[in-house]
Amino acid sequence: MNQRRACITAVGTHVPEKVLTNADLEKIVDTSDEWIRTRTGIERRHVVEPGTPTSEIAVAAAREALRRRGIGAGDLDLIIVATVTPDMIFPATACLVQDKLGATRAWGFDLSAACSGFLYALTTGAQFVQSGTHRRVLVIGADVMTAILDYEDRSTCVLFGDGAGAVLLEPGEGENGILDFSHEVDGSGACYLNMPGGGSLHPATRETVDARMHYIKQQGQHVFKYAVRKFAESAEKLLLRNDFTGTDVDLFVAHQANIRIIEAAQHRMGLPDVKVVKNIHEYGNTTAGTIPLALGTALDENRLSRGDLVLLTAVGAGFTVGSVLVRWSGVSWD
Ligand SMILES: CC(C)(COP(=O)(O)OP(=O)(O)OC[C@H]1O[C@@H](n2cnc3c(N)ncnc32)[C@H](O)[C@@H]1OP(=O)(O)O)[C@@H](O)C(=O)NCCC(=O)NCCS
Repeated sequence: MNQRRACITAVGTHVPEKVLTNADLEKIVDTSDEWIRTRTGIERRHVVEPGTPTSEIAVAAAREALRRRGIGAGDLDLIIVATVTPDMIFPATACLVQDKLGATRAWGFDLSAACSGFLYALTTGAQFVQSGTHRRVLVIGADVMTAILDYEDRSTCVLFGDGAGAVLLEPGEGENGILDFSHEVDGSGACYLNMPGGGSLHPATRETVDARMHYIKQQGQHVFKYAVRKFAESAEKLLLRNDFTGTDVDLFVAHQANIRIIEAAQHRMGLPDVKVVKNIHEYGNTTAGTIPLALGTALDENRLSRGDLVLLTAVGAGFTVGSVLVRWSGVSWD
């Protein structure tokens, strides 16, 4: 008997129209296009108009996925939103998305795992499909990073952008679908990348605002070294467990945090450029948005075919680490 697998049956993406180039950032902080490009691979990022919430870009991506699949929001059973920039601390952004979409039959919740959030949400959603209890699960990765960026801190504000992506999970009985995953947490890394203010540890006060605690803080070099090591480790562990090597991978879809991190993992696995998706030059790091946006780029470039072995990998604040192996089911992309 064939095992029931969760298949990605639709992809939708959304980035805001407004673009912030490296040259624009040169006017805001002491930086240069050359520094940003050579250290990160980023050339521009898309940013929302101030006041645009995460739910808005999440809904735009979700609508694209539903349109491509030819189903209505009323057909959804569950909505999971991965984000670190929810509209509010509560209620969950998934509730706001459910309402805006009119997904009246769906329940939902948010999941917080920073840059690994989309992969954690994908894996979580897949369990509901594989168990047979849910037929249509919408998994969204969406972040408005500009809401928590300190434009006086040149070491972080140049790295991030805003964006969202959504995938639909449905059951399939054949070889295709989500094959396996490997996730890790190393909570001792929490101090290296976080937003300290606004939670129960440091509730918002005049002092927390004055101390700029409601913005992203990171020790970039430490995060960089950890990410380089863990990207390759996580990806290789998952491949090995499934009796694959880098040669079997048709497409490596990595979290887009820094081109040097992606290329280090690419070279370690011996993957040629044609097997690696890179769109960081256009979007920067959109946190939970990067992997579905990268799937969108691969589809735009006609680089995903039914039956392809796709390896998804991310490392993020926490530290969180995740890899997911997918046998691609094929989606309509127009
Ligand atoms: C942030 C990052 C690009 C910095 O690159 P780096 O090569 O490690 O650079 P360093 O932090 O060592 O800084 C080198 C110098 O550049 C300076 N610098 C930092 N940001 C700069 C900027 N935007 N423009 C110009 N100079 C900058 C630093 O002040 C430092 O100057 P100094 O030597 O005079 O002190 C890199 O560490 C990185 O990508 N880290 C991971 C970040 C990440 O992906 N976070 C999300 C996790 S998923």
